[in-house]
Amino acid sequence: MDLFHRPRRNRKNEAIRSLVRENSLSVSNLIFPLFLIDGKNKKTEVTSMPGIYRLSTDLMLKEIEQCMKLGITTFDIFPNLEERYKDHVASEAMNENGLYLSAIREIKKHLPEAVIMTDVAMDPYSSDGHDGFVKNGQIINDDTLEILGKMAVAQAQAGADIVGPSDMMDGRVGFIREALDEYGFTDVSIMSYTAKYASAFYGPFRDALESAPKFGDKKTYQMDPANSREALTEADLDVTEGADFLMVKPALSYLDVIKSLRDNFNLPIAAYNVSGEYAMVKAAAAKGWLDNDRVRDEILLSIRRAGADVILTYFAKEFALSHK
Ligand code: PBG
Repeated sequence: MDLFHRPRRNRKNEAIRSLVRENSLSVSNLIFPLFLIDGKNKKTEVTSMPGIYRLSTDLMLKEIEQCMKLGITTFDIFPNLEERYKDHVASEAMNENGLYLSAIREIKKHLPEAVIMTDVAMDPYSSDGHDGFVKNGQIINDDTLEILGKMAVAQAQAGADIVGPSDMMDGRVGFIREALDEYGFTDVSIMSYTAKYASAFYGPFRDALESAPKFGDKKTYQMDPANSREALTEADLDVTEGADFLMVKPALSYLDVIKSLRDNFNLPIAAYNVSGEYAMVKAAAAKGWLDNDRVRDEILLSIRRAGADVILTYFAKEFALSHK
């Protein structure tokens, strides 16, 4: 054969392959989401997310300490609240002695180097199970902003380093930025859930927090999975309103959206490898149908290749452990 071009030459052994490798994955790119519950020495596994636990504050401290030794620097914390703490205006989100804000203070006190990201949205605290304020069955955008602004300030006061608005209300990034600045939190970053889709992949997360909507769905605020240009509109707004990171969520079914934000914007891009994406791998691996570790690494690498700088993933700790 008279073949002049033989791309296989660059694959002939691991040394050459690693010389020409275009993308890589390191623990320093990962954020580990954690679920918080009330109590002491409490740890309950999320049924639909094998290996992922809801932890009480004391155990979460230990978990974070252990993960930091493995090189994980940043943790995104979500609270699971008992139903009795929930109301229509998410009052508990502003309760400085409540579970969430106390835990954040506690973590920052004992582990000041841990970078703590918080979630700004009403759903864990809302008796309606929605991310926004509900009136006559509608999600009211501008009333929600007032609540989100207070929530973000309360989280910053507790010590949050990064706030993550995951609510998809219009104008919330700018509103939160102004509220934070007004209270002197000019150094608290905003990782905006820029393109958050109305996805079925969030199912296991809603089990973890027991936060599923009590009526309807989230389609009037989260994006339609059919749309990609709309993500650019959302990103334009977030940049103008002062976001520090742009996030795409979920990750795996939206690699094209990650790539498109990467190609069109200069801010760091984050991608959320969500609960359902984790659950699929775990379920198939449990049946012996897929190799957990290889599939995990291939998925995370694909998200990097699409253009994400940062990946939020429930695989963070096991990835760190298997690449020690
Ligand atoms: C809610 C929120 C959700 C997730 C993060 N923040 C769920 C939702 O919008 O219903 C999903 C994360 C995951 O599935 O891992 N504000």
